Amino acid sequence: MRKLLILGASGSIGSQTLDVIITYNLYELVAVTVGNRFNAVDEIIAKFPTVKFVTLKDPKVAKEYQIKYPNVTFYSGNDGLLEIIENSGADVVVNALTGFAGLLPSIKTLEKNKILCLANKESLVVGGEFINKLLKDGHGKLYPIDSEHVAIAKCLYGKNIDDVEKILITASGGPFFDLDSSKFSEIKVEDALKHPNWSMGKKITIDSSTMMNKAFEITEAYYLFGVPKEKIFPLVDRKSHVHSLVKFKNGEVRLQVGPSDMRIPIYYALTFGKCDNGEKFDDVEINTYDKYSFKEMDYEKFPLINYGKFIIDKKGNMGAIINAANEECVYAFLNFNINYVDIKNIIDKIVNVYPYIKDPSLEEIIKTDLEVRNLVNEMIKNK
Ligand SMILES: NC(=O)c1ccc[n+]([C@@H]2O[C@H](COP(=O)([O-])OP(=O)(O)OC[C@H]3O[C@@H](n4cnc5c(N)ncnc54)[C@H](OP(=O)(O)O)[C@@H]3O)[C@@H](O)[C@H]2O)c1
Repeated sequence: MRKLLILGASGSIGSQTLDVIITYNLYELVAVTVGNRFNAVDEIIAKFPTVKFVTLKDPKVAKEYQIKYPNVTFYSGNDGLLEIIENSGADVVVNALTGFAGLLPSIKTLEKNKILCLANKESLVVGGEFINKLLKDGHGKLYPIDSEHVAIAKCLYGKNIDDVEKILITASGGPFFDLDSSKFSEIKVEDALKHPNWSMGKKITIDSSTMMNKAFEITEAYYLFGVPKEKIFPLVDRKSHVHSLVKFKNGEVRLQVGPSDMRIPIYYALTFGKCDNGEKFDDVEINTYDKYSFKEMDYEKFPLINYGKFIIDKKGNMGAIINAANEECVYAFLNFNINYVDIKNIIDKIVNVYPYIKDPSLEEIIKTDLEVRNLVNEMIKNK
């Protein structure tokens, strides 16, 4: 049985991955990482006695856990996220971390020629060029977990990427699609955390409401499928029944329809492209097809979506600039330090002032991330 490491096992994708491997008896789970929700470790070790390596965020807590579980090796901090990839003996790594923290673990996984099941889309947004080079030059492999990208991969089955006319990435539109933008300044944290169709971690839920999540998914599709940005578009399906569509040059359109359940794309990634896990979903009635009602994306109401193609155009450290500004703004909003509309205003300002580097080293990407975070926090303090 293949050995698995889950980065971010206490989160939404991480815990659903645990559920999938136990349900379908896939993998020997040998290692997990959790952040601040360290209590999750006790539950995981009790359920999966095969776990022999754990990384925790806080070194002090890791020391306490090392005493509690002497037969398990504990690491801590950002270095611990890399040490566990190096030492746990896992062949396959699920990266379900949030944000920039996922980049170096993705790179390390591919440098070690392992298989990366990637939920952390920020890895491709900030480091798509580095990751694709590693995939080209090495023996590592990448399978996406994002539901839209799994849907696109399913639509592409048996097709040639050159046959694609366009890729339509569906978006639910989030909680504010029908809200007048004049009311955006009144949006509260609890309103933005109410996603209409999916239950997810807080950061991606806010990103879904601003459409930054869809912007990142456009960048993600560009790096995953190697199609020019002119062929990638968002399309709104308010019910999230259709997970994405591909139109081919011969006029054929393929779309993938199914329940809004992340365990389906997680299963697909963990089995390297198996579509059917043997379970029966609720029937999709054929006569409901004419009830699918797609809507165009509202670029004026949700201008952050334009950053997806902007990042593809600019490359360099632009993904790192936008991602770091977005992460800091989202957490500041969640902590009630800024208003909803400030998220966009601050990101726009940062993009205008922070130095763009066309061909950065990995060190410069890391420096960009750090400096942009400091700049955003200074702006917020002086507001
Ligand atoms: N949730 C979804 O349905 C969904 C769908 C598609 C794609 N994604 C993508 O999947 C990724 C994870 O999303 P999620 O919703 O699962 O997020 P989440 O529920 O917030 O979980 C994130 C996980 O990463 C850990 N983590 C975060 N920052 C860390 C750091 N600096 N160091 C160590 N560990 C850290 C967290 O630990 P603690 O919680 O213990 O602190 C948690 O285990 C994101 O990139 C998201 O865009 C999610």
